[in-house]
Amino acid sequence: MQSAATLTLTRPDDWHLHLRDGALLAQVVPASARTFARAIVMPNLETPVTTTEAALAYRERILAATPKGVSFEPLMTLYLTDNTTPDEIRRAKDSQHIHGVKFYPAGATTHSASGVTDLKLCWRVLETMQAIGMPLLVHGEVTDPAVDLFDREAVFIDEQLIPLRAAFPRLRVVFEHITTEAAVDYVRDCGGRDQMLAATITAHHLLYNRNALFEGGLRPHYYCRPVLKRERHRRALLRAATSGSARFFLGTDSAPHTRHAKESACGCAGCYTALHALELYAEAFDSVGALAALEGFASFFGPDFYGLPRNRDRITLARSQWTVPEELEFGPDTLVPLRAGETMAWKLVS
Ligand code: DOR
Ligand code: ZN
Repeated sequence: MQSAATLTLTRPDDWHLHLRDGALLAQVVPASARTFARAIVMPNLETPVTTTEAALAYRERILAATPKGVSFEPLMTLYLTDNTTPDEIRRAKDSQHIHGVKFYPAGATTHSASGVTDLKLCWRVLETMQAIGMPLLVHGEVTDPAVDLFDREAVFIDEQLIPLRAAFPRLRVVFEHITTEAAVDYVRDCGGRDQMLAATITAHHLLYNRNALFEGGLRPHYYCRPVLKRERHRRALLRAATSGSARFFLGTDSAPHTRHAKESACGCAGCYTALHALELYAEAFDSVGALAALEGFASFFGPDFYGLPRNRDRITLARSQWTVPEELEFGPDTLVPLRAGETMAWKLVS
């Protein structure tokens, strides 16, 4: 039952999450585990997670950092490099714990230096992925410095995504954290009854446009990659997320960096939203009167795409104001969540 004051839905999952490693895990895993039953865990650690063995060891460290009595399942991914082998992909599939392979164009974002320099070098690996049903998770931005930063996603669609999908029509692809109307249109209209392509959308791209980066001064905690875009794009994302189309689902891209690394002459990309992710999405959906569409986006379409069961338990949000902490503990430094010190309209209550 839903009323204006509360919203109860099937427990959601986060289909795109950065957890980092080591002692930092204990400071961020509980936040995700509080809301989400499962999360697709990104492999861009300082030493990228390129092997099944490394992914399984990382999974154990995440489980060790999960609070006792809380059920949270990390769904692991491999980091694609120019040297990934088809055998490694088969091992990953056989492990049962690896659910995708992440394609970072080399240099596109945080810890992407070992990413792919030319997708042609991965052709045999992509054939294997297509054959065994291993999804490719795509950071969709070209890295050519001659291309304007704000255009890199749209150019990626034309130069890389369309040729890739033409070459591998049965490859399952997740276009991660889409930020533009071009990406929305492409994913929505990509045709075919089989759902081979889907996209994740972050809460921050639903709530903010690029003005947030410059509101009264430079705002590093609103800087992420792909960078926030114009209002026209935010509105297109919001229409897609609330449309009821199973091609669009929740992926926070929560990406913790220390305060020091963000508030710097060359600050890191990433917004930390694990703390209040579902509450942020609820606010975005509520802003267009579409709360009824949140459950499909947050709890159904992701597991359906990945071929996993939907969760069975439920969680409840209440319309209740609270203030986001100014900062959180994070190793020897601190972590500034998105919207630090500001008000939230929704609160997770059970
Ligand atoms: O803003 C981002 N931060 N985008 C990414 O693609 C990576 C992430 C991170 O790992 O910090
Ligand atoms: Zn990410």
